[in-house]
Parts: sequence; structure tokens; C-alpha cells
Amino acid sequence: MGYLLNTWYFAAWAEQIKPGVLFPRTVIGRPLVFTRRGNGAVSALDDRCPHRFAPLSMGRVEGDRIVCGYHGLEFDGSGACVRNPHPSGKIPAAARVRSYPVVEKHSGLWIWMGERAADPGLIPDFAKLDDTSEGPAVTRRDHMVMDVPYDLIVDNLLDCSHTSFLHDGILGNEPMIAAPTTIEQAGNTINVKRFARNVPPPGMFDMLFRQDGAPVDCWTDFRWDAPSCLLLDVGVTPPGRPREEGTGYFGTHILTPETATTTHYHFAATRWNIRPDSEDEATREKISDLRRFAFEEQDEPMIRAQHRNILMSDPAELKPVMLETDLGVVRWRRIMDQLRAAERAPALMAGE
Ligand code: FES
Ligand SMILES: [Fe+2]
Repeated sequence: MGYLLNTWYFAAWAEQIKPGVLFPRTVIGRPLVFTRRGNGAVSALDDRCPHRFAPLSMGRVEGDRIVCGYHGLEFDGSGACVRNPHPSGKIPAAARVRSYPVVEKHSGLWIWMGERAADPGLIPDFAKLDDTSEGPAVTRRDHMVMDVPYDLIVDNLLDCSHTSFLHDGILGNEPMIAAPTTIEQAGNTINVKRFARNVPPPGMFDMLFRQDGAPVDCWTDFRWDAPSCLLLDVGVTPPGRPREEGTGYFGTHILTPETATTTHYHFAATRWNIRPDSEDEATREKISDLRRFAFEEQDEPMIRAQHRNILMSDPAELKPVMLETDLGVVRWRRIMDQLRAAERAPALMAGE
């Protein structure tokens, strides 16, 4: 699937961008370099010097300027060349690097790479990440690069029936297969919901709840916002009881395409109704580790193999069989097609 341009991408966890350090990161196929200036604001520039195209991230920071490591041109946070160290000292008009709007919000750094005006109001709500205390509520703010295209990961997340098979015993189990899938849409935001009644708790939730294996109701609600920002509301409660009597967490799954075939995966979990016997650093780390294990050791190998099969197939053979669990997969792809078509429309009308 192609990229949406006029949207916010989560480029990195804000804590990853440190003063005086050049932070390279490729987003939707464009190499970028991030720096945090003296006043705390972050700038994002193309990571390509306009002289001989060396990556600026291989240079160094001098005050609030980036000094190219190849022949020393210096750039400010807006991407303007502000110093040519060579004899004439002249700064050619074309010596400029593109800079991008960035916003720091919900402990992330969001970047706008489209041509339209950047509207910070369009950043999806991840306020669940705002608690930056050292307490047990928010797990590690984690990141990995998955060797697969981003759209296959969105498909994976929006069809949670896979947890009973791929994450059996940790995040799902056999009795949960019977849970029906429903979908709601408000604007371009969708919620894909599953509700498993009176089932044994999957291992992770047994650990967070009563640790007795007694039956629970388990809900798994996934919110999706374009292009690939997902928030999971998952939890367990005694059968037939309100959710507030149980426990759970909000799982952040924010995907940012790195290239056409690789994806930055940012993830964390924010717990609520934390049971006193699991309110410790060890449990917090265990949740972080278990989630990372599930994504890295279970999801990624499957999606990578799926992608390989797709690449080796004749497109005419790739008419997917549809199941009732595919409601979310069909819907998010339809919304993205509409958004991308709307983005291309002005260009088409201009005869491009
Ligand atoms: S490539 Fe940057 S100054 Fe030459
Ligand atoms: Fe999974």
C-alpha cells in the first residue's frame, strides 16, 4: 500500500531525541535527521546535504547548527545554510535543506511530511501515554523495526482472532475463538471489538488479575486512526461483571512506515486498576518483555513469511478468502483508499 502524505507520522519517542545529538531516522522512504535545539524544540530536516548529498547525520552539532561531516557546510534548524567555511564564504541560494513541521505530544515526536498545512489537531489521541512518572502504569516505551510492510501489520492488529493461534497461552486461547467481532466507525476512526464471555484468562491477564485461572470475560477493542496509529483497550473482569471490577491496559501500537518493506513499531502499555500484588517493577518489565516477545518472535516471523509468499505470487492469484473476522481489515483499507484518492485528486485535476 502506498503512503498517505498529509498526515502525522510518529517519528520516534520524544526521549530518543537528545540535545547535541543527531538522530537519523527514515520515515516513508525519506531519510531524515532530528535534533533537539538549545531551547528544547526539535527540528527535522532531510538527512541529505545539498552539496554532495552526504547524510547530515554523519556530521556534528555546533550550537544549534548542524555541520556537514563531509565539507563543513553549516545549517540551522530551518534547513538554511548559514555558513560556508571555504575561502569565498559565499552561500549559494540552493544551499538549503527541506525542513518539516514536528510536534511533541503524547511522549512522541510527530512529523508532517505532506504539502498541505500541518494541523496539530489531527494528531490521534494517545493521552494514555502522557503519564511519564516512573510508576508502574506505563511500561517501557519500546521500539523495533519490523522487516515487513506496514499494511500487513495493521491487518494483523485489526484481526485479533490471530491471538488464539499465534499467541496461544499468552494473549489468547482456544475458547476465545468463539468471540464475535464487531466494528464501529466515527468519521475516519474505527473500533474493532471482540468480546469473549466466560473463558479462561490468557496467561498475561491471569498474571495481572487473580493468578488463579478462573474464568473471565475478556474484551479486545482496537481503535485505528489513519494511517497506522492503533490503541488497544484490552482487559478481563469476572464473568458478567462491569469492566471496572477487572483490570487491563491500553496498548499503544503506532506504526510508521520506514520503507516500502520495513516498519517502525512503537509500543507501550498503560495499565489501570493495577492489583497490589502486581504493582512492582518486575511485573512492569514482564509485561514489556512479553509484549515484545509476542510481536518480535510470533507476529513478525509469520508476517514476514506471509509477505514472502505474496511477493512470489502472481497478483491474479491473490484474491483473499474473506472471513467474518476481517471486518476491520476490509474497513481500514477502504478508508485509506479513500484518503489516498482524495490526496491525489488535486494533482489529477491539474493534469499530472
Ligand atoms: S556534502 Fe555536505 S558539505 Fe559537502
Ligand atoms: Fe499478534
